[in-house]
Amino acid sequence: MTDTCTPSTGPFADDLLDSLPADQVAAAARLVVDAGSLAFRIAEGGHVVGYRVGSGELLGLERHDGLAADTVVALSAAAWADLVDQRRTVINLVVSGQLVFEKGGFDALAQWDPVLKLVHAGIPVFEPGRADLSGFDPAASCSLDDDDADLRARLSAVGYLHVRGVFSVEEMAQVNAEIDRLAALAQPGDGRSWWVTGEADEEVLCRLVYASQRSELLAGLDNDPRVQRLGRLLDPALRSAPDRLEGMAVLLKAPGKTQGLSNIPWHQDCGMGGHRILCPGVSIGIQVTGSSAATGNLLMVPGSHGQTLPWQWERQLTGVPVVAIDTEPGDVTVHIQDVMHASPQPTGEGGRRTAYVSFYPERMWEHVGPGEAFNDLVRDRNQEVAALQ
Ligand SMILES: [Fe+2]
Repeated sequence: MTDTCTPSTGPFADDLLDSLPADQVAAAARLVVDAGSLAFRIAEGGHVVGYRVGSGELLGLERHDGLAADTVVALSAAAWADLVDQRRTVINLVVSGQLVFEKGGFDALAQWDPVLKLVHAGIPVFEPGRADLSGFDPAASCSLDDDDADLRARLSAVGYLHVRGVFSVEEMAQVNAEIDRLAALAQPGDGRSWWVTGEADEEVLCRLVYASQRSELLAGLDNDPRVQRLGRLLDPALRSAPDRLEGMAVLLKAPGKTQGLSNIPWHQDCGMGGHRILCPGVSIGIQVTGSSAATGNLLMVPGSHGQTLPWQWERQLTGVPVVAIDTEPGDVTVHIQDVMHASPQPTGEGGRRTAYVSFYPERMWEHVGPGEAFNDLVRDRNQEVAALQ
């Protein structure tokens, strides 16, 4: 896997552009051929940092320092440092109102986003033709009978696992009843749940967060040896965080066309920020009900972890592989947090329930306090997020 956490030395330090492989630069430049040039005007010093597609024979990128760019974005030095250092994303800064478009708008900046991640942090653009799955079938499932080395090799290559039969149907029935109990206690605005607007304009619960802090039974899942084994496959130093980053998050997929964040478009779990702090974390999805397209299953782009795809890539790229993961109650999905994935609108009755336990590198605890999460920014901001979709 690519090292996606290359540190930057500061907001005005040189970027990595001159040391990047030409093929990676060309792949990034292809994404912005029609997006026009981009410039950032950084407050507290008036520095301008700009990029455009190069004028040479080979497709490439070059810097410029003029405000004549097609898109000009003003931001504070602190916001710029956060962006360069992969602590906050473009989306994070837009939703929190910390970018001012002096010229142009969000669409062009979003197209440039993978390019910025390449030049600032060396994160390459995902190219379907070059994805290396080490011979693993991305649609295949595995089980706890497989040994750790095999599971680790598959997870490292594909970016996710579908592990069958980790929990019994009886165990999942108990968990499901516990979710019913917590769901009945949830209230909009309680800071412990996510809600969307249903087709009849009603508020519909779509996520419980910090769920294991309100339930002994669910806390038992956090510490279950099966969950711990899978969560620490990639790195035994990773550990779960029940009290921050939303702790155990239980998804309850609402049926129909909802407004808000029940159906999550293509994203990486560091999409709101924190890539440098959280990745390569691992999320364990305990499939309480099982899942299918009818109930809103999980979609994956195999081999996309440690890389980026452009905003709304499905409208402009062809040949990107997508795997839909259908599960039975008691199965578990394991995904590296920056693999590209989605949770689309159920085609049928909806209702998938999945309890997520996520494992993070030690450094996360230095940056994120109890009760804090990058998702705090969007939990109660359905309208702002809808505007971006
Ligand atoms: Fe996700």
